[in-house]
Amino acid sequence: MVKSPGSSKSSKAAKTPKRRTHRITLIPGDGIGPEVSAAVVSIVEAAGRATGAAFEWHRYAAGAEAFETTGEYIPKALYDSIEENRVALKGPVTTPVGGGFASINVALRQKFELFANFRPVKSLPGLKTIYPDIDLIIVRENMEDLYAGLEHVVVPGVVQALKIITEKGSTRIAKFAFDYARRQGRKKVHAIHKANIMKLSDGLFLRCCQTVAEGFPEVEYREHIVDNTCMQLVMNPYQYDILLTENLYGDILSDLCSAFVGGLGLVPGANLGTECAIFEAVHGSAPDIAGKNLANPTALLQSAVLMLHHIGESETAARVQDALEQVYREGRTLTRDVGGTSGTREFAEAVLRAMETPVKAQA
Ligand code: NAI
Repeated sequence: MVKSPGSSKSSKAAKTPKRRTHRITLIPGDGIGPEVSAAVVSIVEAAGRATGAAFEWHRYAAGAEAFETTGEYIPKALYDSIEENRVALKGPVTTPVGGGFASINVALRQKFELFANFRPVKSLPGLKTIYPDIDLIIVRENMEDLYAGLEHVVVPGVVQALKIITEKGSTRIAKFAFDYARRQGRKKVHAIHKANIMKLSDGLFLRCCQTVAEGFPEVEYREHIVDNTCMQLVMNPYQYDILLTENLYGDILSDLCSAFVGGLGLVPGANLGTECAIFEAVHGSAPDIAGKNLANPTALLQSAVLMLHHIGESETAARVQDALEQVYREGRTLTRDVGGTSGTREFAEAVLRAMETPVKAQA
């Protein structure tokens, strides 16, 4: 073994292994964002202390809050930070309805070419939900479709919104879904579309999915029309494994599927590109419960678990996930959205306690 300089000395430093430090851009967001972010940061840091990981959080505001102090909805310093750190954890940011500034989320996804939105919808133990043992993945194209935000007034009283679907974008997201299926041994990919009406745009999306599917003979490939998919999901979600969708359908189906596992307070997400990744929950800023210590931080916490895997901190990720599942299994300290009576902070404290006294899951 090659010894590094000074390693022969039995110094204190040699006994205390160097902690792995990760620089993460943190956008706490607004509404319930600051509450759930604070809970998540405290849990991730505690897990890291046990596994030797340290986190440097580079905090930035975005949206209306950022505009007040910097005059920009997405400050340049925030863009620079994501570019440098390549990983961000993001709370929800309010987007004004029917006017005002453009979506911060869409802008960040466009800027960093985060073409894949990956949303695992998985039941947590102990929770009574509409369906047990749900394990679905939504793979949503993240940059095109009606979310390109290209709208204009043709003549007064007539507005046109452009739906952009490209061969490149469709092929890339289909490849992402099938690659994931192959890597994880998942059985089925359903492409979700409305190509009976949007023959050119959704037709192109489908053709790209079909071409990609040919390279993955071990993965069953099927196609469902989006409206039928909504009914099929509610009747029997178990028929699906991976849902491969364009941007708008994926957005809607994500909220629908979240109801299977207990609602929006639970479902995490990752916006993935080739250079950077932004991890955020499916839910929004929930103004109806903001600032009341009512929000469930699970969705952002599970997004942080995805982030920890992404940065190679699988042990830290497992520590967080195990503690989270322990709290759900015990069911004593849950938030109101999933039938409990505890607040955001009490829930976070329960996860922290579970991390200190882990109980092995019953087989
Ligand atoms: P929402 O997801 O904020 O809330 C929908 C419902 O779910 C509300 O009843 C809310 O109380 C509940 N909910 C959401 N998250 C919860 C949590 N963690 N714990 C407990 N309950 C939770 O959707 P809404 O009301 O349509 O949108 C509010 C704002 O959020 C809008 O300005 C929208 O543009 C923005 N938004 C931002 C997103 C993001 O930043 N990624 C994503 C979705 C919406």
